[in-house]
Amino acid sequence: MKNIVILISGRGSNMEAIVNACAAEHWPARVAAVISNRPEAGGLAFAAARGIATAVVDHKQYDSREAFDAELARVVDGFSPDVVVLAGFMRILTPEFVRRFEGRMLNVHPSLLPAFPGLHTHARAIEAGCKLAGATVHFVTAELDHGPIVAQAAVPVLPDDTPDLLSARVLKQEHQIYPQAVRWMVEGSLKLADGRVTHTEGESQLRFGS
Ligand code: GAR
Repeated sequence: MKNIVILISGRGSNMEAIVNACAAEHWPARVAAVISNRPEAGGLAFAAARGIATAVVDHKQYDSREAFDAELARVVDGFSPDVVVLAGFMRILTPEFVRRFEGRMLNVHPSLLPAFPGLHTHARAIEAGCKLAGATVHFVTAELDHGPIVAQAAVPVLPDDTPDLLSARVLKQEHQIYPQAVRWMVEGSLKLADGRVTHTEGESQLRFGS
């Protein structure tokens, strides 16, 4: 049984999708803990109601990124994670933290990386006149929203889109590809070589949504 530890900062809809898929699809894993850097994160209540351990490491209580990350690493390690899942975890991580969980830490980002790392991805995609947008699940490296790509989902950008409409369309796809990617991790069916990720049994790492 593998341990999944999920880090959130807000509503936690990706975390919910992973918790639900883990139970419904009988993964050889359990969500051992959901940890937030914000005490008011909505997702904490969902996790607690499911009987999942929750913890808060409030970044405002630390005077440096290093001190916060050291405490976060200690708390995460306390749940013996095989996979660390960043699900809307909106903190830049120190290289030390990333190194500690390297190769077993995933992130989801709401753009087709390497396009639009950082914030306001949907507004930026609309502004740039993109015809396609989407989401990316990737291994975490020290560079923000960067790292070997595990799965991507593409959706159309429609002529009358607003950032909210596009965000909702992309989020629906995140809820498909992120649980799938975490399942691959717990099954051990991903191969990472030369910065590229393949699924060892050829499951599609690309999805088109509407
Ligand atoms: C998601 O859209 C996720 O892709 C994004 O935050 C949202 C969290 O939603 N993450 C990032 O922008 C990371 N750079 P959720 O809390 O409902 O899962």
